[in-house]
Amino acid sequence: MHVVGVYLPKGGVGKTAIAVNLAHTAAVAGERVLLIDLDPQGAAAWLLGCTPGSRGVAGLLAAGAGEGRRLAPGEAVASAVQATAWPRLHVLPMDLDARHLEADLARLDHPRRRLRRLLAELAGRYDRIVLDCAPSMALLADAVLKAADALLVPLVPSHLSLAAWERLRELCAERAPELPLWPVFSLVDRRRALHRDLITAFARVHPTLMPVYLPSAAAVERMGEHRAPVATFAAGSPAARAFSELYRCLLARTPAQPNGRLGEADGSAAAG
Ligand SMILES: Nc1ncnc2c1ncn2[C@@H]1O[C@H](COP(=O)(O)OP(=O)(O)OP(=O)(O)O)[C@@H](O)[C@H]1O
Ligand SMILES: [Mg+2]
Repeated sequence: MHVVGVYLPKGGVGKTAIAVNLAHTAAVAGERVLLIDLDPQGAAAWLLGCTPGSRGVAGLLAAGAGEGRRLAPGEAVASAVQATAWPRLHVLPMDLDARHLEADLARLDHPRRRLRRLLAELAGRYDRIVLDCAPSMALLADAVLKAADALLVPLVPSHLSLAAWERLRELCAERAPELPLWPVFSLVDRRRALHRDLITAFARVHPTLMPVYLPSAAAVERMGEHRAPVATFAAGSPAARAFSELYRCLLARTPAQPNGRLGEADGSAAAG
């Protein structure tokens, strides 16, 4: 099971668009995928046609010790998971009301370990977990740094985005120095000199940059109209091809899994 967080402490850079399309592409390639919506906005689950749960990921994370003891490990999580219209793609939505999540977490012992513990309960059920993160730097973000195997970091080619990238690097240096950071440029408009210049300069000094540029595309904005991933209604579009390429790059960086499932997915991706 490989856990990838999609995170940058800056809003509107395409985190949710990437998380949703990446999760869908991985499922189409044959992986068993769980997308966890860690943002109280609930956009990722909504875009995949799911509804917020009365008991979603916030309730599971903030459950007090001893709560839910009557359930077998993983059962509470499994009961909150929703299937989507697409085979092998499941969603663990954010709760309908998650206003108090940070305050609830702050009252618990070891709140930063909660997410990792929750994911451990899912071992063996999924090949890939995709975490759609909120843009904040609160406790939940720290929990993501502890739980993820790697972070995919969407950057719009702008100075503000690059400033957020530096903040993230500082945070990770302090809290998760071993965590691989994989930046990827999103909302790219190659006709703009500023975009070309910033990307070229960044690529020169950041070898972990994903070698794929996600274009600014109307198809991505239309996901809300269809409540579906781009490939389902704009197959073959530049945006759909870019998300598919991003998945291939991610797969190339995903270590082989002991049960070989991701290896199988690799084969089916190549075939399909
Ligand atoms: N590649 C793209 N091309 C065009 N529009 C995009 C693209 N990616 C995202 N958008 C649009 O930009 C807006 C923000 O995207 P998204 O919600 O994915 O960002 P986010 O980083 O998850 O934001 P937040 O920090 O609020 O969660 C949305 O309206 C979305 O439709
Ligand atoms: Mg988002």
